Amino acid sequence: MDLAGKIRLIKDFPKPGINFRDITTLLQDAAAFRQTVDKLSELCRQFEADVVACPEARGFVLGAPLAYAMGKGVVLLRKPGKLPGQTLCHSYDLEYGTDALEVHAGAILPGQKVLLVDDVLATGGTVAAAVELVKKCGGEIAGVAFLIELLGLAGREKLKGLPLITLLQLE
Ligand code: PRP
Repeated sequence: MDLAGKIRLIKDFPKPGINFRDITTLLQDAAAFRQTVDKLSELCRQFEADVVACPEARGFVLGAPLAYAMGKGVVLLRKPGKLPGQTLCHSYDLEYGTDALEVHAGAILPGQKVLLVDDVLATGGTVAAAVELVKKCGGEIAGVAFLIELLGLAGREKLKGLPLITLLQLE
């Protein structure tokens, strides 16, 4: 199946000049969604991860079924103020301002091998923050997986040395 053909391109969102890759059209297609999760889980088995972790919000949509398919638990990396328990936090710079990801203390144990999953690798800022957060917990990065890699934004450069798989490479 042409999975790339299931992703809709919306021009000038969220601001003029940005071509937004909308994965909702893929997600709502049962066969495309199943094939996406199946392919990711097949490729990710090599990482021999103990647990899957994924950043809010679109990362959850792929991370949870992927973890289920691989027989692993899923750890949610959330935007600030969403998790009820004690948390660890990692802040990172955006083009304007900063953002942060949080995880529950104890959700990732020292020495655990973590597979990080997200829908899109763009600048790599989000996943680089997720990597740092996993490390703060004492976890090890087993691998990093994306549905889409946006070529030309050099996100891959931020993940040098980490095992990386991307299902679709788009301009
Ligand atoms: C999007 C996407 C990735 C991130 C990729 O999330 O789901 O997490 O941006 O961009 P980067 O590589 O430049 O960091 P967004 O922050 O829009 O949040 P959402 O998933 O809640 O929509």
